[in-house]
Amino acid sequence: MNSVTGLHISHHPASERLLDIKIKNDYLDKVKDLFDQNELLDIEYKPFLRFHISDIFNKVFDGKIKDIINKTLQDRDQGAFIVGPEHMDSNKYDTDFLVKLSTALTHLVGTPNFDAMAGKFYARFEVKHTDNSDSYLRKAYKKLDLHTDGTYVKEKTDWLLMMKMKEENANGGESVLLHLDDWEDLDTFTKDPVAKENFIWGSPKSKNIDYKIEHPVFSKDKEGRPIISYIDQFPEPTSLEQGLFLNKLSNSLENSINHIAFKLPPGYSIFSNNHFLLHGRRAFQSSPNMSRELLRQRGVFYSSKL
Ligand SMILES: [Fe+2]
Repeated sequence: MNSVTGLHISHHPASERLLDIKIKNDYLDKVKDLFDQNELLDIEYKPFLRFHISDIFNKVFDGKIKDIINKTLQDRDQGAFIVGPEHMDSNKYDTDFLVKLSTALTHLVGTPNFDAMAGKFYARFEVKHTDNSDSYLRKAYKKLDLHTDGTYVKEKTDWLLMMKMKEENANGGESVLLHLDDWEDLDTFTKDPVAKENFIWGSPKSKNIDYKIEHPVFSKDKEGRPIISYIDQFPEPTSLEQGLFLNKLSNSLENSINHIAFKLPPGYSIFSNNHFLLHGRRAFQSSPNMSRELLRQRGVFYSSKL
């Protein structure tokens, strides 16, 4: 295991594939002091400041965190890690700081895509007891099935960072990941001729995308290994074969016994490769005072093997 000043790095108990990176509090305090010199509004208005805080962040860790996270995200045997404070203090590490922290992390590997739902390079959203939105994203008591992001947009989505900014009165709701190479039925599905057919992908109104795109569910990376672009809600099957294929696929993914499931603590992010890792969430138990706030960024690698 790598040893880096300011970090505790270990394998997560849920899976050998998943790295667990804890940032020591005295180092995170140093990061906070440096980040406080730039207001969040300025970071939102001036894209170059995002690169600046990312560089500051890397230097606090002797310039080594950049290599670790790039290697982890692009290594087919890994592809994901969680990262957050060794001890969370939500008064000190407030939401403005957490947005900056997520931005510093993403800009070490690439640039985020414009998030049309939020109208900026990141999206923050709440998951509460009640919801009247048009997708599974904010429905706490429904599980969020395994999927990849960016299935319905023209931009490539190489990676995804999901941060839990706050969580109160929440029971259940474990994060779930499935690595394609752990999935029992990968071979069967990639060999199915429907897997390579173009599907139509649309999205509900809240996503603010006014076009549809076409692409297959499975394709291959530059080294010939299978990759997936799939979500249950947005493909629009145009034949019986396509509809049945998606239904079979959904059942197989959800019933895999190789899910990596874990509780993500507040202040922590899951950073994952979006081509060979699917992500989802288990349902929460009903609680009227439940409240969570999440942040996401997704984008492209500066340089990619895919
Ligand atoms: Fe997602």
